[in-house]
Amino acid sequence: MLPVEIKKNVYWVGGIDWDLRNFHGYLTQRGSSYNAYLIRGEKNILIDSVKTPLYDQLISRIARIIDPRKIDFIIQNHVEMDHSGSLPRLVEMNPNIVIITSPNGEKGLRLHYKKDWNFRVVQNNETVEIGGRKFQFVHTPMVHWPDNMVTYSPDDRILFSNDAFGQHISSTERFDDELPIGIVYEEAKKYYANIVLPYGKQVQKILPVVDSLSLDLIAPSHGLIWRKNIGEIKRRYAKWAGNETERKAVIVYDTMWKSTEKIAYAIMQGFELNHIPVEMLNLQANHISDIMTSLIDAQYLCLGSPTLNNNILPTVSAFLTYLKGLAPPDRISLAFGSYGWGGQSIGIIEKEFENCKYELLPAIKVQYVPDQDRLDEITNDISRLIQK
Ligand code: FEO
Repeated sequence: MLPVEIKKNVYWVGGIDWDLRNFHGYLTQRGSSYNAYLIRGEKNILIDSVKTPLYDQLISRIARIIDPRKIDFIIQNHVEMDHSGSLPRLVEMNPNIVIITSPNGEKGLRLHYKKDWNFRVVQNNETVEIGGRKFQFVHTPMVHWPDNMVTYSPDDRILFSNDAFGQHISSTERFDDELPIGIVYEEAKKYYANIVLPYGKQVQKILPVVDSLSLDLIAPSHGLIWRKNIGEIKRRYAKWAGNETERKAVIVYDTMWKSTEKIAYAIMQGFELNHIPVEMLNLQANHISDIMTSLIDAQYLCLGSPTLNNNILPTVSAFLTYLKGLAPPDRISLAFGSYGWGGQSIGIIEKEFENCKYELLPAIKVQYVPDQDRLDEITNDISRLIQK
């Protein structure tokens, strides 16, 4: 396995997870990579590692550059096991390795691995010189765990940003300008929507720090390294973290006998009459992690379920659970659905929207099957409600 030199004496030595399709509930259609970086010098420094099953990839790449037993320091930006899983074997190989991490990083690593390793804890904004190279450590708590930090190398003009600015992409290409940029942005957006979204306020605190750095590269711990489009990905992060939405609707639904689907399409026409873009997202055909990507910049969220056994369909319930966890704020919401006799689905969905503090449009409820007159009425009602 080959390393990639990304700057003089700085190498990508990570692992590529071509087969990954499920990252705790996030559909990773393009797989992923766990990016570890080796800095060769007076002291050899490894920045992050890879998850346990990819240890052999990591070692074989490092071995092309140095004897892996000669790693002196590991900078552990984040405790989560996709970046720390190889630590036990690395330390076993060289028990003198110094692990540089944040105070919460030390706590988390001790709780994960139950080992009394040689920790060097660094404070926020502390600069440490290692082997003639300076490193500045910036704590980024809750982006997206309490232990997260990023590492800046002023000599190399590289920010090792760990999960921030990452994308789940497996590829032999290493830089953002080596794949179609639309794919890279879409995967960065999906990553933000499914991993970083609940922590927008924390991201907003970090972005000015990133802006203040002289950068040639942002080297995240997943996917491609930002080289050509650093300004644009920072601009997009500012937009997502600021919850900037567009006049756009997502209509999410599941259906039993197509009545709820008919309502969904009638609602869609109401938006179309106002020239508002719409995405139709049937839960039978779309993964909830893709729906979150669509929702991140949409002002309107319409959610439909028929009533089944006095409740909502399980697919809709799963979506609501996922939505509540990621909690995009300030949406205009609409509950809709068909029913036979009880009609409880609307109330259940609206209650969840209220918990999210969303503005509610009047719900749409139809008994059994809507006729064309009722569908036209729904289209006209929606069109009127959303006119500005
Ligand atoms: Fe990629 Fe939070 O680990």
